[in-house]
Amino acid sequence: MLPKWKAAEGGGGGCAAGGGGGDQRRRCVAASLSMLIAATLAFLAYVAFFPDDGAGGLYRLWRCQDCAGDLLGEFPGDAAAADGPTPAGGRRRPPTTLSHVVFGIGASARTWDQRRGYAELWWRPGQMRGHVWLDEEPVGPAPWPAATCPPYRVSANASRFGDRASASRMARIVADSFLAVTAELRNNYTAAAREDEVRWFVMGDDDTVFFPDNLVSVLNKYDHEELYYVGAPSESVEQDVMHSYGMAFGGGGFAVSYPAAAALAKAIDGCLERYRWFYGSDQRVQACLSELGVPLTREPGFHQVNSAPFPSFFVLSKPRREEGGLNIDVAVSSVPATAQRLVGATHHLAAQVSGRLFPVTKFPRVDNVVLVQVDVRGDAYGMLAAHPVAPLVSLHHLDHIQPISPRGKTALDAVRPLVDASRYDPARALQQSFCYQHGPGGYTWSVSVAWGYTVQVYPWAVAPHELEVPLQTFRTWRSWADGPFVFNTRKLSPDDACARPAMFFLSRVRNETARSTVTEYARHDATPAGKVCDKASFRAASMVHTVKVFAPNMSESDWVRAPRRQCCKTRRTRWGSVLEVRIRRCGRGELTTP
Ligand SMILES: *[C@@H]1O[C@H](CO)[C@@H](O)[C@H](O)[C@H]1NC(C)=O
Ligand SMILES: *[C@@H]1O[C@H](CO)[C@@H](O)[C@H](O)[C@H]1NC(C)=O
Ligand SMILES: *[C@@H]1O[C@H](CO)[C@@H](O)[C@H](O)[C@H]1NC(C)=O
Ligand SMILES: *[C@@H]1O[C@H](CO)[C@@H](O)[C@H](O)[C@H]1NC(C)=O
Repeated sequence: MLPKWKAAEGGGGGCAAGGGGGDQRRRCVAASLSMLIAATLAFLAYVAFFPDDGAGGLYRLWRCQDCAGDLLGEFPGDAAAADGPTPAGGRRRPPTTLSHVVFGIGASARTWDQRRGYAELWWRPGQMRGHVWLDEEPVGPAPWPAATCPPYRVSANASRFGDRASASRMARIVADSFLAVTAELRNNYTAAAREDEVRWFVMGDDDTVFFPDNLVSVLNKYDHEELYYVGAPSESVEQDVMHSYGMAFGGGGFAVSYPAAAALAKAIDGCLERYRWFYGSDQRVQACLSELGVPLTREPGFHQVNSAPFPSFFVLSKPRREEGGLNIDVAVSSVPATAQRLVGATHHLAAQVSGRLFPVTKFPRVDNVVLVQVDVRGDAYGMLAAHPVAPLVSLHHLDHIQPISPRGKTALDAVRPLVDASRYDPARALQQSFCYQHGPGGYTWSVSVAWGYTVQVYPWAVAPHELEVPLQTFRTWRSWADGPFVFNTRKLSPDDACARPAMFFLSRVRNETARSTVTEYARHDATPAGKVCDKASFRAASMVHTVKVFAPNMSESDWVRAPRRQCCKTRRTRWGSVLEVRIRRCGRGELTTP
């Protein structure tokens, strides 16, 4: 700074430099004065017109005396952008609806009939757009189930992209969907088509269950005219370490904005060539988006459910004493169908059978094998019962885990009640509320509701910071370890009757009024028969057989606000057999204290 001033004084030919007479000095003083006045006026005008522009104006001028480049506005675009994000509403565009979203579901013709139940759970024919992308023409004599499923397309042959052609094919689905949509628009550019502009492309697997209304409220937060890649990494740290924390795991689904899909469509073939040795399709997509400089925007409602439960073990051979220890061939699964698929693959796994670790070298062929099921219980329950305060967008891998509720024998039937409830109040699905019931003799019950799914009643005081942590009913995907996960977990002591909450699962849902619902949850005791805790609080809790939850319809706009868990209040009715819970927004500064 100083040298600059000196230079100006010295070489400027200004007042001081001229050693001239008094006349010149007077003129000089007058000129200086008028300059000073003009500058003051300009300054006042500036302050008047930009009174409080925070860091962008005066403050910046003040701080930035020696960053001339900044003041000259070398990056005028950036300066404009720094005025703040332009949310979707900023430019007065109509909000994003389901009709702005195009789905691309990766599937295989041979397994579609077994998997289609998942798509049928959430697909709304006539209200949604998109395709199932198959590897070949559908097999079998039955016509395509167009009344309940998305229409299908057959992907282009991707075998030129390396060994794992199927991964390349799946990775191309974003591009294929984009090209299909633009071709449709080109061929049929009617007014109707213009109205149905496409803003987002959403990818999923054939066993992904989407919650479409929540997907739309999540996408509504982002400006679809910018490049966005929205999704979530895996819940299992070992999966994220092995693949990437920066990648949306494909099965949980991910969304790509229109301009990002356009860019991806141009680049994808080159990327598939460059990353042909990658394992998964989702990795290839992320690698390509990374070349475009587009990072993952994380949304906690997308669920890969890579935290597999305690699986069932199918012992396939007698233990053999071999080099390096005891060897046993096992297949691992929670459903026999998965074991069938695993058989034939060569894996190096460590399986825990009867509490001991055995190295497993390979899965033998299925036809010379006796299947003995060693059942180890566990499921995604704990994770789903403690969902983050964010809309539930997707669930995946339900086929690989235990049915998520006792309402139904198959994975599909077990998820149906949650999906049905979500139709009544989509935004509230799985949202937790905590309240406390104080009874005679000074007992306290802690009640945790995961709306539309389950209620837990702890016959003792558990603080909210604990209730919001998932009970560990599951293990990691790859090594079946107790963790780590990308969230904390709480130990569940299955055999200690005095350490287990009573669990209730959704049994009924109905409208209460036009704007509120009643959900009922029936008791389900997983404790081994005969094991009861002999404490007064537990005895009183053991009488409750139904929990009835009354809740106002949660509006989408609740997700536009800062996230906040809602409050509730309990009441015992029918001589203690029914526990009523009323959910409402918390008051200002309201505490939930045991
Ligand atoms: C794809 O192309 C390869 C060779 O180009 C061929 O061997 C394969 O059968 C094709 N696959 C399909 C499904 O057409
Ligand atoms: C063009 O679009 C209109 C309305 O969206 C539809 O009714 C018509 O069948 C389409 N035509 C073709 C050739 O796809
Ligand atoms: C529940 O209420 C909603 C909104 O008022 C209505 O659209 C829906 O049809 C009702 N459902 C039933 C089963 O009455
Ligand atoms: C709750 O709101 C959703 C839309 O956000 C609507 O589809 C549903 O019918 C409403 N349910 C009731 C009971 O009002």
